[in-house]
Amino acid sequence: MKKVICKSYEEMSALAAFTIALQIQSKPDSVIGFATGSTPVGTYKRLIEMEVDFSKVTAFNLDEYYPIKRDNPQSYCYFMKEKLFSHINIPVGNINIPDGECDEPVKECADYDAKLERLGGTDLQILGIGKNGHIAFVEPAENLPLATGLVDLTDDTIKANSRFFDKPGDVPRQAISMGLRGIFNSRHILLLISGQGKAEVAKKLFAGELSTNVPASLLNLHPNVTVITDGSTD
Ligand code: F6R
Repeated sequence: MKKVICKSYEEMSALAAFTIALQIQSKPDSVIGFATGSTPVGTYKRLIEMEVDFSKVTAFNLDEYYPIKRDNPQSYCYFMKEKLFSHINIPVGNINIPDGECDEPVKECADYDAKLERLGGTDLQILGIGKNGHIAFVEPAENLPLATGLVDLTDDTIKANSRFFDKPGDVPRQAISMGLRGIFNSRHILLLISGQGKAEVAKKLFAGELSTNVPASLLNLHPNVTVITDGSTD
């Protein structure tokens, strides 16, 4: 696990955007795994400014609330359009986000995994981390899911996500989330950590101990992980 400590959120975002741009330059038809949440917003802004050519890129997002309408401003589908996809030249047909409107979530999850497998996994997977150590919505538990699935969000996550909703009662209780197989099948994982609130979980990650109660700690097993922090967690 490579660790890069930046001086600011802006520096972290610039470095992350540069890493993504380099990946696309060296392989224009890269499969890139995208995350939502506050952390990568600056990275996506920089990518847009850099005018990176996404015309051959395939995007594969980590997760989506369930159920949620695609045009709900809180949906991850809406978020990705607003923060990145509608500002770059990625073909709409190359964008993959779990469908929060589907009637058959079990089938949706199986199809999502099958498609990612057919593509051979992601070349680069961008990740954020929850204060409770979750990656995607693989939440702390005794047993962690390998496959994409419909997951119950923990109270901690519902609380953390409620900042984006008008009322706590509006926060979805479930999400479709990629499992560990989809994440670990990436050839390079780029984990971004920002904000003092993540200091404790960052410490656990770097301590090098594995625990399913801190799902991100399992990233220590992956051969090619780069962690970029904004410096505020040290
Ligand atoms: C979002 C995702 C989540 C977030 C995590 C951190 O697609 O997979 O794991 O990365 O909850 O969110 P922020 O960046 O808002 O602190």
